[in-house]
Amino acid sequence: MRVRLKGDAICTLLLLVALCSLLYSQLEHLVPVGNKEPTQKKPSGTSKIFSDARASWRLMPAEATAPRPPVTPTIRRTEVANKKVQTTTAPPLTDSAFNFKRYLLNKDNRNFNILINQPKKCRKIPGGPFLLIAIKSVVEDFDRREIVRKTWGREGLVNGEQIQRVFLLGTPKNRTVLATWETLVHQESQAYRDILLWDFVDTFFNLTLKEIHFLNWAAEFCHNVKFIFKGDADVFVNVENIVDFLERHDPTEDLFVGDIIYNARPIRVRKSKYYIPETMYGLSIYPAYAGGGGFLLSSRTMRKLSRACREVELFPIDDVFLGMCLQRINLKPVLHEGFKTFGIVKPSAAPHLQTFDPCFYKDLMVVHSLKVAEIWLMWNLLHSPHLSCTQKKQVKKPFQWKKKAQPTTQASPLG
Ligand SMILES: *[C@@H]1O[C@H](CO)[C@@H](O)[C@H](O)[C@H]1NC(C)=O
Ligand SMILES: *[C@@H]1O[C@H](CO)[C@@H](O)[C@H](O)[C@H]1NC(C)=O
Repeated sequence: MRVRLKGDAICTLLLLVALCSLLYSQLEHLVPVGNKEPTQKKPSGTSKIFSDARASWRLMPAEATAPRPPVTPTIRRTEVANKKVQTTTAPPLTDSAFNFKRYLLNKDNRNFNILINQPKKCRKIPGGPFLLIAIKSVVEDFDRREIVRKTWGREGLVNGEQIQRVFLLGTPKNRTVLATWETLVHQESQAYRDILLWDFVDTFFNLTLKEIHFLNWAAEFCHNVKFIFKGDADVFVNVENIVDFLERHDPTEDLFVGDIIYNARPIRVRKSKYYIPETMYGLSIYPAYAGGGGFLLSSRTMRKLSRACREVELFPIDDVFLGMCLQRINLKPVLHEGFKTFGIVKPSAAPHLQTFDPCFYKDLMVVHSLKVAEIWLMWNLLHSPHLSCTQKKQVKKPFQWKKKAQPTTQASPLG
């Protein structure tokens, strides 16, 4: 009897175990099935997906509407030390050992012939152009010039004001490609009539020569211009904003506006590309100067600067050199928040959203360090007939949906 009972008990036990494991395996099987198609079957699954979507939507408009990145003075300060990296298109000399001795010896050799001129650039406009856009470029950067011509550098009327354009070039450093480039540059000049070419080698440390020669050219051939924008080819310029700003100013008064850098110190580290020995500049602080990405000046200031710069000794950093010229005529450059010559500080979360939100660019004047495609895209987005930055805010429906949902979640703890 005992044995039978024992056997029965074992049997039941085994059966129970078998049943349990069967149930368990069934359960295990059920769970993944439920997870596989939550959208159709489980209402909870649906709500989860919606809340996920909401979360990502919440992120998107927030990033897109972010009024302005915090380009605080502290950011600018820290970047002052290596500011040349961000403020010039022309790459520094690859032969890093800049020969200061030779530079100092050659310093008086500062007048070079103009090889390609556009003497009628301003003269042909009755009453003179409202704005001359002068862009530093190198012969090799044909594609950059093309994109600038097609976008913000267009000649013609903007808000009823006449815009003219020139590119500022020196001779290519690479002698082996000289023959090809000579043909190209002449063809380009014939086609667009916007090339100014001078007979000095186009190097980073010769940008000061470009500055001097451009100012002299403008004083001689473009004295009837009202304002000048001078900048790099890798910037995005909101010409409409610039024209709007300049219409409120008098070209017969002094004006110099840009991303002004104050109290920058000369770099005394010998290894740096921007090293300036004390024999070249003895003071501990540079005069206030504009970041090379782009700045504005009036006709009056252009004439005064062209004279003043002739009396200032050559200095290898062109932005600083112009600051020295400004100091000589006792003119204080004006800082304008619309000039972002260090580029936009992109949030790491969604950099693409911020850089390519055209509404974000609407309030700016100059943004530095953009790729050719970015310039083209931004210009097209900004000039799209569908662009309406106030309307864009209304499109953000998920925001409203979220707000509607909020009262219920708040009501539940109360109720
Ligand atoms: C000059 O250009 C030629 C042809 O494009 C190239 O092969 C050469 O490496 C260049 N030299 C320098 C120093 O950049
Ligand atoms: C500037 O250009 C002149 C004339 O082409 C040249 O002799 C000189 O070496 C260049 N200087 C620098 C620093 O590149």
